[in-house]
Amino acid sequence: MAKAAKQSFVCQNCGTITPRWAGKCPGCEEWNTLVEETDAGPPPGGGLSPRGRKGAVVRLETLTGDTDEAPRISTGLAELDRVTGGGIVPASAILIGGEPGIGKSTLLLQLAAELSLKGRRALYFSGEEATAQVRLRAERLGLAHAPVALASETNLANILATAADGPRPDLIIIDSIQTLWSDTLEAAPGTVSQMRQATQGLIRFAKQAGSALVLVGHVTKEGQIAGPKVIEHMVDTVLYFEGDRGNPFRLLRAIKNRFGATDEIGVFEMAEEGLREVRNPSELFLGDRDGDAPGAAVFAGIEGTRPVLVEIQALVAPSGLGTPRRAVVGWDASRLAMILAVLDARCGISFATHDVYLNVAGGLKIIEPAADLAAAAALLSSFSGAPLPKDHVYFGEVSLSGAVRAASHMATRLREAEKLGFETAVMPAAGDIKKRTVSIELSRIKHLKHLADGLAPCQ
Ligand code: TYD
Ligand code: MG
Repeated sequence: MAKAAKQSFVCQNCGTITPRWAGKCPGCEEWNTLVEETDAGPPPGGGLSPRGRKGAVVRLETLTGDTDEAPRISTGLAELDRVTGGGIVPASAILIGGEPGIGKSTLLLQLAAELSLKGRRALYFSGEEATAQVRLRAERLGLAHAPVALASETNLANILATAADGPRPDLIIIDSIQTLWSDTLEAAPGTVSQMRQATQGLIRFAKQAGSALVLVGHVTKEGQIAGPKVIEHMVDTVLYFEGDRGNPFRLLRAIKNRFGATDEIGVFEMAEEGLREVRNPSELFLGDRDGDAPGAAVFAGIEGTRPVLVEIQALVAPSGLGTPRRAVVGWDASRLAMILAVLDARCGISFATHDVYLNVAGGLKIIEPAADLAAAAALLSSFSGAPLPKDHVYFGEVSLSGAVRAASHMATRLREAEKLGFETAVMPAAGDIKKRTVSIELSRIKHLKHLADGLAPCQ
């Protein structure tokens, strides 16, 4: 008699498995995340088979030897090629995450259309929209004539059967992985076990058939791809599509890439006729800035492992109060107090009779100490009334002695600044940079004094 399937409760946030339901997950302490799921047992072919058959001995190889470099499929979208490391690798899986409405479906429809127009077979399975909606979008994009094979389907078995039917697909798009369900599991679509099963099945098919697989993943309010990291571990490449909905610009970032670097970003603009590539992103970011106003410095920062360029704005104004105001948004107030004290004690520039306001543009919160130098540059610029050069970025930690300390990931910051069109980086003198890896000019300073001297505040 077949053994009854085991019931367990799986946290949808961290993946912790418990035998009993509880309001709070014992693993990550999140509330209401435990969902009952049935364990379907090991996937077919994994370890001992259900019939207890012994595994076959595989051939072991050495690290050296001939390996065919995977021929990449150029997507026809240069920014997407850049982020994937030179095009999509056949038989690989890409997960693309982003907030609702950011443009994931638009990007993937454009990708499918580009490839199908080049004679490749592209399948688009939409689990969220009816085919009519996808057709409408294609019309809007002017791509309705592209021979994309389209279906509105959420059943995993049907999708696999369809993909296996007919000529080998070069590209399979699943929009989104959260909508898929397999009837071998009792759990609802979007639960960890359903997503894992669907991803496993699709990846297995893609690897066997040699098709490139692109999965859309929803993100939670914290900005993570929904479900625990399991899906991200299973795929070869994880991309995030980011942007502000009030702003037409979109950034595509690689978070993980088994076939390329992860510090490349792709820049797009959402226009009436879909996503347009932005060839010269520097113009776009500089265009938004008022480069002639004093008190703005661009900080080359790192968010987690991702490089982010952000403007730090300062306003220094004579104070009518006995105790001048210090207000800061997006940065640590005690860090600002420290920078002001260092400028006073080590550089002889006192802000004691001035109100100081500091703001990180775009609502970003910076916790990195490397923002010190950019904040100091913004403060000095506003104090002196002299704008900073438009094409400069700043980063470096300032110590209490006024010395500028090396920051982490310096090469990553420089590459990002270079990519976004900046020409000079004002940065710590300490720390090695392989000069040939970057072409941006480096202005390396040892002490905050050197920055203050260059900006010559007038009092
Ligand atoms: P969509 O690709 O549906 O987002 P996602 O799949 O990430 O949820 O894009 C949604 C937004 O993009 C929608 O609000 C309208 C806008 N849009 C344009 O501005 N121009 C276009 O040509 C298209 C197709 C969409
Ligand atoms: Mg969509």
